Amino acid sequence: MIEAYQQRCQTRVDTALAPLFSAPRAELARLYAAMAYSVMGGGKRVRPLLVYAACEALGGDPARADQAACAVELIHAYSLVHDDLPAMDDDDLRRGRPTTHKAYDEACAILAGDGLQTLAFETLLAAPQDAAVRLEMVAVLARASGPAGMVGGQAIDLESVGRRIDQPALETMHLHKTGALIAASVQLGALASEAAGAAERDALARYAEAIGLAFQVWDDVLDIESDTQTLGKRQGADLARDKPTYPALLGLDAAKAYALELRDTALAAIEPLGEPAEPLRALARYIVERRS
Ligand code: IPE
Ligand code: IPE
Ligand code: MG
Ligand code: MG
Ligand code: MG
Repeated sequence: MIEAYQQRCQTRVDTALAPLFSAPRAELARLYAAMAYSVMGGGKRVRPLLVYAACEALGGDPARADQAACAVELIHAYSLVHDDLPAMDDDDLRRGRPTTHKAYDEACAILAGDGLQTLAFETLLAAPQDAAVRLEMVAVLARASGPAGMVGGQAIDLESVGRRIDQPALETMHLHKTGALIAASVQLGALASEAAGAAERDALARYAEAIGLAFQVWDDVLDIESDTQTLGKRQGADLARDKPTYPALLGLDAAKAYALELRDTALAAIEPLGEPAEPLRALARYIVERRS
């Protein structure tokens, strides 16, 4: 069931994303090609899926969530391009292909990331919702991706390399660098539905915080348990760089158990949403079962 849903949403968001990368003038062909390379070459599209699933959980029309789905994937792709740069994680493989700075060059990768970030907001502003809803959407995405969200988490990550940090500090880092954008994806889906009451929003926020953390805990687990071919990125990169991760802090088994506990917390939070929240439930399970 999740596979069919995933396929449908992936096709939806990819169809909406593709036209964003046609260069408005010949001089910009390389920049736009680097942006397209960073976004269109695979990826699980988990964040767009969460946008659609949250929208549908509240009875919304997924067609009205396309701009939000594109926006979260654009921010995510930008974060990966910059995360892979030599000054950050210095990785050469992403989604089974050379990282953007390897396929192009560092300056081009930095600019492609910058371009993707601003394109995300431009795209979100074209959403079909009322201006007040769009304004809230933009605020949600800006907060989640900026210094109080993803960018802040990346800063904590880089400052923590080679140091032992305790579980609360690791949790703060993960909630920022990965959890914030995942939570924003769910929130944007709810806003796109134009049908979210306070109780639904609260339930979805608790769901999103738990799966956001679970997503990064599982990403840390996969660095140990999966393989480069399946991952499409270098297995063992965290260990090699002495990155602060859940398995490094708790051990592999405890990290996995924690991820499953977070999944259960997420499932309990959206219990009251009933049948329409089934895709959200499937996604929560998928996040801690995936092999890549
Ligand atoms: C990888 O994200 C980076 C993290 C935040 C852990 P994904 O695992 O969603 O990467 P893609 O988009 O599928 O390549
Ligand atoms: C990245 O975390 C989180 C981002 C904000 C991009 P990681 O550094 O663990 O992501 P991967 O493992 O390189 O995909
Ligand atoms: Mg990183
Ligand atoms: Mg990385
Ligand atoms: Mg990782």
